[in-house]
Amino acid sequence: MSTLLEAHNIRVSFKKENQTRLFGKERQQVLRGISLHLEEGECLGIIGESGSGKSTLGRVLSGLLRPEEGTITLDGQDLYGHHTRAEARALRHMLSVVFQDYTSSTNPRFRVSSIIGESLRALEHATGERIDRKRRVAELLEQVGLPESFAIRYPHELSGGQLQRVCIARALAIRPRIILLDEAISSLDASTQVQVMDLLAALRRELSLSYLFITHDLTSITYLCDRVVFMNQGEIVEQVDDITKIASITSPYARQLLEAVMGIGCEHGSGQEQASDEAWVA
Ligand SMILES: Nc1ncnc2c1ncn2[C@@H]1O[C@H](COP(=O)(O)OP(=O)(O)OP(=O)(O)O)[C@@H](O)[C@H]1O
Ligand SMILES: [Mg+2]
Repeated sequence: MSTLLEAHNIRVSFKKENQTRLFGKERQQVLRGISLHLEEGECLGIIGESGSGKSTLGRVLSGLLRPEEGTITLDGQDLYGHHTRAEARALRHMLSVVFQDYTSSTNPRFRVSSIIGESLRALEHATGERIDRKRRVAELLEQVGLPESFAIRYPHELSGGQLQRVCIARALAIRPRIILLDEAISSLDASTQVQVMDLLAALRRELSLSYLFITHDLTSITYLCDRVVFMNQGEIVEQVDDITKIASITSPYARQLLEAVMGIGCEHGSGQEQASDEAWVA
């Protein structure tokens, strides 16, 4: 296995809002020296409670937010270094992101074919290759367990689980090596979550993908991930390199999250979406 992504000593702060002084310079330290690595083919879970800095870290790792300090290396190249246009594009296409909010991340006026087609157009532009978009959209839909006929649907004509599958197809369209999933299954009910996680596990095997899986839910981490880091107030407070040893965590924060999971283990969603989604599981 080789290291695909490496973050070293990442620091990010934001200007504090509501400062009493007019030109207040106080800053909130959101990431305080985060270091982590992602190996080829693995799934790394990043867990922490709300506000611990997970999404900020996700933005840094996906090239959307330059950190004040620290370096990110993607396949041996400095993500925020100087690159030619072609190198920058190649780096951008190494990693795709899937967000929690599938509704706002898809244009309601676009059909599924255009939502996925946008990414294909970007790939064509970046690589100069000609893509048969209609055929590729159908292939991608099939890969995420949806029928080809869904290409002409609009987002409101899909269930949450189906729309998130479309977002996964869009993420796959650029042929990334890494997918960063930021709470990507958190809005789905429990049974749909399991179906989407099974899909992600299958895609990972078929396409040799690596995942950065951001969540506040330890159950999904144990289902999908090989390793996990626990974030608290912008720091990694514990990491487990073998997910089967999750019970051996020692830090009080990580234990608290583990015990919370055990406590709420039976509290699931309505399961209403199961019937509509089940038919389209790959
Ligand atoms: N652009 C920004 N400007 C100012 N503060 C920000 C910005 N982005 C994030 N923050 C602050 O950084 C902290 C961490 O936010 P972040 O979204 O990374 O947390 P999170 O762990 O993803 O939380 P959640 O689980 O609720 O999604 C929060 O206090 C947030 O208010
Ligand atoms: Mg977040």
